[in-house]
Amino acid sequence: MITKAYITELKHSGNGDIAKLIKSQRDVGTINNILESLGQLPVDFESDFLYELLNHPHAQVRLNAVKNIGKLNGKSKSIKLHELYEKETDTSVRREIISSIGRQRKSENKIFLFETINDDDPKIVCQAIRALLVFEKDIDVQEHLKPLINHTNEMVRNVIYKEYFAKDNQKNGVLPHTETYDFLKNTVVNADVLEALKFVPDDSIHLTFTSPPYYNARDYSIYPSYEAYLEFLENVFKETHRVTKEGRFLIVNTSPIIIPRVSRSHSSKRYGIPFDLHPLLVKNGWEFLDDIIWLKPEASVKNRIGGFMQHRKPLGYKPNCVTEYLMVYRKQTEKLLDWNIRSYDYQTVEESKVADGYETTNVWKIDPTFDKIHSAIFPVELCKRVIKYNQCA
Ligand SMILES: C[S@@+](CC[C@H](N)C(=O)[O-])C[C@H]1O[C@@H](n2cnc3c(N)ncnc32)[C@H](O)[C@@H]1O
Repeated sequence: MITKAYITELKHSGNGDIAKLIKSQRDVGTINNILESLGQLPVDFESDFLYELLNHPHAQVRLNAVKNIGKLNGKSKSIKLHELYEKETDTSVRREIISSIGRQRKSENKIFLFETINDDDPKIVCQAIRALLVFEKDIDVQEHLKPLINHTNEMVRNVIYKEYFAKDNQKNGVLPHTETYDFLKNTVVNADVLEALKFVPDDSIHLTFTSPPYYNARDYSIYPSYEAYLEFLENVFKETHRVTKEGRFLIVNTSPIIIPRVSRSHSSKRYGIPFDLHPLLVKNGWEFLDDIIWLKPEASVKNRIGGFMQHRKPLGYKPNCVTEYLMVYRKQTEKLLDWNIRSYDYQTVEESKVADGYETTNVWKIDPTFDKIHSAIFPVELCKRVIKYNQCA
């Protein structure tokens, strides 16, 4: 058996022993094992056999060869990788070629990388961009990269925007990221949301957790149509976006609803509120992060499965709905999530750390709360978790 220790020993012997070992192998699995166990390569590593493996019929072997060539850094023969790129059809190998060339950080590779930014695979384009950004100040690099702001792929556009077009959007007079206005603290407002939000300054809110009306399923709000309802929500979340600080969170509790039938000769109607709301949020600058499922005990929800239990006819299957969504978004920003945390002082971060017993999955099992006056109040536990995981205090 070829052990890792044996491979390490051969690797350091410096007389092409690894090449000999590979050449003596017929089994593709073993060849891959050896290539994957090579780890860091010594400076005097004899690498010619790696270039020969670029013509191997098995893509995984070519991939491992390219990966190892990437470890040769400045000493690898880029031209061989360029040649393989021209004819390679396997997606993983093609991506690894660009990544290997990028790791060399050699200015002479620029010409080749300029070619690859026209690749059809957006991941390759992104890798080529990353490799070229090592020389981001070079005029020729800028000339090739800036036009990609109009690229069809959004990830490509985002990288280019961040590198060349994003201005420091700290507006004049905006409070530091960690702070807000005293008049907004510990305040309960009983008003129409769109009226109340007019009094909230731009970029002043760190977290919004809300559960909008379920269209016309309950009696506390009535909308003339579903379209008008969605338009109302869009306006509310546009305003929420305006008042939210850069990169901070919006969590919307929603679920599909059912509007009961008018009579026995009509059917009830389901509305997929979360799925209709999502595109409106994204369109208005909210970046999607997570979907948390709020799971309720079956005994606590309306019984829909009763009819099916009797007739068992497939098209009439109507499960009991035991879940709601917490749709998690943040106000779009070029900054990484970590930037938020780094804006706070050490003590605040320490004091905000989440204690043991936190949820490890996106399914949160929480009993609903029932109330004589309001038909849809939040369970306190739900609010506690949302605040604890999404807020520095
Ligand atoms: C699904 S319930 C959510 C209640 C929430 N879970 C809670 O515990 O406060 C929707 C709430 O939105 C309120 N609402 C509806 N339209 C509103 C508006 N235009 N402005 C402010 N609140 C509104 C309703 O009165 C209702 O209390």
